[in-house]
Amino acid sequence: MISKKMTKALNEQIVHELYSSNAYIALAGYFDSLGLKAMSRRFFVQSDEEREHAMKFVNYLMDVGAPVAVGAIPESKSSYASVEAGVSAALEQEERVTAQINDLMALAHEEKDYATASFLQWFIDEQVEEIATVTELLQLVRLAGPDRILMVEERLMRMEGAPGSKPA
Ligand code: FEO
Repeated sequence: MISKKMTKALNEQIVHELYSSNAYIALAGYFDSLGLKAMSRRFFVQSDEEREHAMKFVNYLMDVGAPVAVGAIPESKSSYASVEAGVSAALEQEERVTAQINDLMALAHEEKDYATASFLQWFIDEQVEEIATVTELLQLVRLAGPDRILMVEERLMRMEGAPGSKPA
């Protein structure tokens, strides 16, 4: 039902999403090592979301009768020069994923594969949300500066406790 080229591209995205999931586990571990428990929790939650993203691709491939193939996942970086560098790396990763999703959507349109385009629309919307959330976190980290990073922790803890608040 979908082309070989599209199948290959969707399978590659499974690897990209799992890479994000692993990268955020490593980042959460780094924040935990600094004593930043709320930052750490936020990225563990985000890691779980990334695995869910990977599984959405897996399930879609199965739904359309295309083979699932999971390639090698590159190693994640587990140490950063600063909190800001760690959050910047997360933003860069989300920007890369946004470009990847846009490329997938472009391919779907090129192939007149409107079923896959419809499936991908959720990811287009999700990336807007994810870029906004991580950009907001990076702004907070920059505003606080390295000496007042505990203010970011306090803010995140308040957000965790607030009704209707959602994790990154
Ligand atoms: Fe699955 Fe954060 O992109």
